[in-house]
Amino acid sequence: MSATAAPRAEEARRILHANDRGGYCVPTARLYPFQWNWDSAFVAMGWACFDEARAWQEIESLLKGQWEDGLVPQIVFHAPSDDYFPGPDVWGIARTPPTSGITQPPVLATAVRLMLDGARDKTLAEAKAHAIYPSLLRNHAWWQSARDPSSSGLVTTLHPWETGMDNSPAWDAALARVPTETKTEIRRRDTTHADPAVRPRGEEYQRFIHLVDTFRDAGWDPARMYAVSPFRVADIGTNAILLRAEQDLLALAERFGTPDDRAAIATRIARKRAALPRLWNGALGGFASFDQIEGASIPVSTSAGLLPLFAHCATPPQIAAMTAQLERWAARVKYLVPSTDPGHPRFEQLRYWRGPVWAVVNWMIANGLDWANRADLAALVRGNTVALIESQGLSEYFDPTDGRGIGGADFSWTAAIYLMLTA
Ligand code: DGY
Repeated sequence: MSATAAPRAEEARRILHANDRGGYCVPTARLYPFQWNWDSAFVAMGWACFDEARAWQEIESLLKGQWEDGLVPQIVFHAPSDDYFPGPDVWGIARTPPTSGITQPPVLATAVRLMLDGARDKTLAEAKAHAIYPSLLRNHAWWQSARDPSSSGLVTTLHPWETGMDNSPAWDAALARVPTETKTEIRRRDTTHADPAVRPRGEEYQRFIHLVDTFRDAGWDPARMYAVSPFRVADIGTNAILLRAEQDLLALAERFGTPDDRAAIATRIARKRAALPRLWNGALGGFASFDQIEGASIPVSTSAGLLPLFAHCATPPQIAAMTAQLERWAARVKYLVPSTDPGHPRFEQLRYWRGPVWAVVNWMIANGLDWANRADLAALVRGNTVALIESQGLSEYFDPTDGRGIGGADFSWTAAIYLMLTA
């Protein structure tokens, strides 16, 4: 047990306990009443700071929702709740437990590797990681077969929710091609729990739900979903996180896997390392997502564009350009890292992924800055994150201009990151 003296550590542990619904955490009460994929990977690392057995349980609970083909869904609906839309009835997926039918950024293998390497209870960690390893292997095979069927080295996301950065300005143009008509009646609940001014707009929800309707009509079959989706992007965030996760999976495969596993993972890593540079946008001077339907780079700088550092995949000139960009952003806002370039005309400091600071993204960027030998900037990003949380509480996200905490309160992944940064 690590007893940290950080001023909000006790509160952070209390929040994880309060959001615990029996082996899994909801991101926050009411607004998000189920288990979310990438939230849980961070939440597990947070639990690991003070209760390792509970940390492993978080991941085991998430994997109760894994599909036979390897998909780890974005949401696992362990218990019913009327507080969220779209619930299991809209997804229409007959599984126990019910799940959604799309995914989220694959942080899981990285979480398992870091929890194993940092474990105080080595025996428990070895046993748990060994048992979880085959599910991770199947999940990464799913990313390959379902989302990169041509083995290009870049995976495709089919819904903004899959990027975790739902209403980023990076998706505006691609999402504008998705029709607003829906078969499902939209009954948003999020705007009754949070200020509508900090949530995605109504028209975005219409397009989000049009995509859900489209995939439900495609029977949740990965090949059909890929073929019919009117939204197809190579998200720089997801691709960087997956490349990092593949490297962590390879480390796990060295302990628990077979030579064939290691060869397959190494092949994917080589392919991804060769492909990620294609997401460099020279005119923008940074990494950016690629609209695969339009066949063009998306000219919007976001915090996700810094995640190739987390993947340990950037050349020295790219690192110099990315860190210079971060320094320019630091001169424009009070707190790093805004989710969108604060100089961009569609930057909105309060609205979800259009500007606010997110602690989990900061944690990944700081980790990447360490790899890039920019301990000074890593310390700045970590220091800003801790300062935001200590002054405002464990909010879902923060206004980068004045630090105000926004969105849901008592947020699980913010609590987890605070524990990790102050442990
Ligand atoms: C939501 O409902 O706001 C989530 O971000 C979807 O994963």
